[in-house]
Amino acid sequence: MVSHRPVLVEDIILNLLGYQGGIIVDATCGEGGHSEYILERVKPSLLVAMDQDIEILQIARERLKGYDNVKFVYGNFARVDEFLHKEGIKEVSAILMDLGVSSYHLEEAERGFSLYKDGPLDMRLDRAGNILTAYRVVNEYPPKKLECIIREYGEEKWAKAIVRAIVERRKERPIRTTGELREIIEKAVPKRFWPKKIHPATKTFQAIRIEVNRELESLKEALERSVKLLRSGGRLLVISFHSLEDRIVKNFFKKFEKSGVGSVLTKKPIVPSEREVQENRRARSAKLRILEKL
Ligand SMILES: C[S@@+](CC[C@H](N)C(=O)[O-])C[C@H]1O[C@@H](n2cnc3c(N)ncnc32)[C@H](O)[C@@H]1O
Repeated sequence: MVSHRPVLVEDIILNLLGYQGGIIVDATCGEGGHSEYILERVKPSLLVAMDQDIEILQIARERLKGYDNVKFVYGNFARVDEFLHKEGIKEVSAILMDLGVSSYHLEEAERGFSLYKDGPLDMRLDRAGNILTAYRVVNEYPPKKLECIIREYGEEKWAKAIVRAIVERRKERPIRTTGELREIIEKAVPKRFWPKKIHPATKTFQAIRIEVNRELESLKEALERSVKLLRSGGRLLVISFHSLEDRIVKNFFKKFEKSGVGSVLTKKPIVPSEREVQENRRARSAKLRILEKL
């Protein structure tokens, strides 16, 4: 069963309509939500549906089995060009990246992403290829390194207190589950300083996930390589969900524009309507930026 609801669908489709008959890459295919809309409404000659999670790709494969113009690729988008070259594809019309995790990942407790569903401290998107787990980050990283990660990737002001509490606990016994980690953080941050709109552990969970999956490094690499893959007039569309990602996309797009590689079509990012946010809470922090190659 599909659990993820794709965001900003109309804006994505509107910006891809000119590429009917071209090759489109959905570099973060997930359960195939955007892919299905693209196949139905844009009608590319080929859709490359890529994801670094082989399990979720299986769901997309099932969902899209009625289409014969889809090629599924299991891999990290940081090496998107290598995967496409292997398939004999040198140039594409458009590339879409819808960053982060899918609702599927949050709902499957055993994947260890959810704050609310107790599961093992895992958080790997690529369980088949990545050996760094949240368990190792939480239990084995030196305190200073852990603090840096939580401060930098989580933009968490309470990083020091949180790491102190983690280190105290792991001296007694390893921290094994998302529930244990959540409780440690709840106790480390005084209640009167808990954020109003999010759980006090949200930012720490985000930081650990980013570290486990090397998300920011992959994104930077993917942006560089994607732009080279685009044909002249082709588009790169990126949806981000937090400020660290959005800053990277914004700065790379500016750099591409300055060096004459492309032109930024979104001076301000496209954000979901109030209605979309009401219907899909996950959409609330989505920002779409688009670059067109010159
Ligand atoms: C927000 S979901 C995509 C949802 C999809 N657009 C849909 O409509 O169903 C993000 C997906 O990107 C994948 N992903 C994240 N980082 C990736 C990377 N570096 N390379 C390939 N896939 C990645 C995740 O495994 C996840 O399935």
